Amino acid sequence: MTRLLVRDLAQLATPSAGPAPLRGRALRDVTVIEDAYVLCRDGVIEAVGPMRDLDARSTAALDDELDGRHLCAVPGLVDCHTHPAWGGDRVAEFSLRAGGASYEELHAAGGGILATVRATRALDDGELQARVARHAEWMLRHGTTTWEGKSGYGLDRETELASLRAIRAAGGSPTWLGAHAVPPEFEDADSYLDFTLAEVLPEASQLADAADVFLERGAFDAAQARRYLGACRDAGLSLRLHGDQFTESGAIPLAVELGARSVDHLEATGDDGARRLAASDVVGVLLPASALFLDRPMPPGRSLVDAGAAVALATDFNPGSSFTESLPVVTTLACTQLHLAPEEALSAVTINAAHVLGLAHDRGRIAPGLRADLVLLAADDWRHLGYHLAGDIVVHVIQDGVLRR
Ligand code: NIG
Ligand code: FE
Repeated sequence: MTRLLVRDLAQLATPSAGPAPLRGRALRDVTVIEDAYVLCRDGVIEAVGPMRDLDARSTAALDDELDGRHLCAVPGLVDCHTHPAWGGDRVAEFSLRAGGASYEELHAAGGGILATVRATRALDDGELQARVARHAEWMLRHGTTTWEGKSGYGLDRETELASLRAIRAAGGSPTWLGAHAVPPEFEDADSYLDFTLAEVLPEASQLADAADVFLERGAFDAAQARRYLGACRDAGLSLRLHGDQFTESGAIPLAVELGARSVDHLEATGDDGARRLAASDVVGVLLPASALFLDRPMPPGRSLVDAGAAVALATDFNPGSSFTESLPVVTTLACTQLHLAPEEALSAVTINAAHVLGLAHDRGRIAPGLRADLVLLAADDWRHLGYHLAGDIVVHVIQDGVLRR
């Protein structure tokens, strides 16, 4: 048995109990305890409360104690949308975009995603594993204790499966993004889908927790996305969609029809789409760092929340459209660009993100019985999580009861 006490915290902030995903007023329901402690035992939170309630019995037989003075605790952050399995980089494209080239133009010219596909295929398994492990380490430094990672830069059998294995090995929840782009060796999207559903899905479905598709002009249309996701669902995977990033192409109705866990991006979603999403159990995953990085319109976060939609926030970490691993930065963007309250943003990067991954029963809040994942922030008020733009705010990270940073 190992026991860790975090004591004398200036504040502890956690989404309150309630059925996930949180929506409407419940998204703001954050419990704040001043002068707090958290006791962890064997990777699980044993007790939480104000210091005055900490009894001597609880402090007997501790293995470790952490001084929380002038620090705030929030739940370990959950990044429910990342693309960590890639080789090379896209810094040359970044320069071109700085000069005015658009992301869609670069994609159409065989750059963009397909440039990363070439670089990823060139890695051997060990190199790919090392890349994913490096990215997981970056995320941890910014307070991410649970993350989802997508394949989608292989698009051949070997590299897709190696990506899923590398993501699992680095501690992530793998999503098979087999329908990210059509690789150059195929004539069209349908013949590529024939191949990948026959040759890759049987094994990918054993390695992944979910499947995802890029439903967009120039990638896969709604009929192709329905075919891909239907086959993945039949193989036991939960479903995600990249939708409404540049154009509204039917992603929300399809997500609702198929009972997907989430539809992600939503920069182009209008009022109708927002209403349909709000009336469903599908979570809208907002990726404001991607909109910022591509200089695109922000997703309508405030309207979605006001309409009653369940929302989560994620980085979309990838080398092309969102080269950041920082959920604290995403929290800043949520508050300043999407006009979410800090409380709503906290729920969206913790409990609701955990729900998207099917993990809300054991993480995403600070409460007895949940996994001991905590982030300690260098501030006396937990709202510095978003307030301190790109600040050096994460002091300690506890994952599964172990001090990782
Ligand atoms: O979520 N939109 C599609 N896929 C990624 C970008 C991938 C890339 O540019 O390499 C995204 O933004
Ligand atoms: Fe993405």
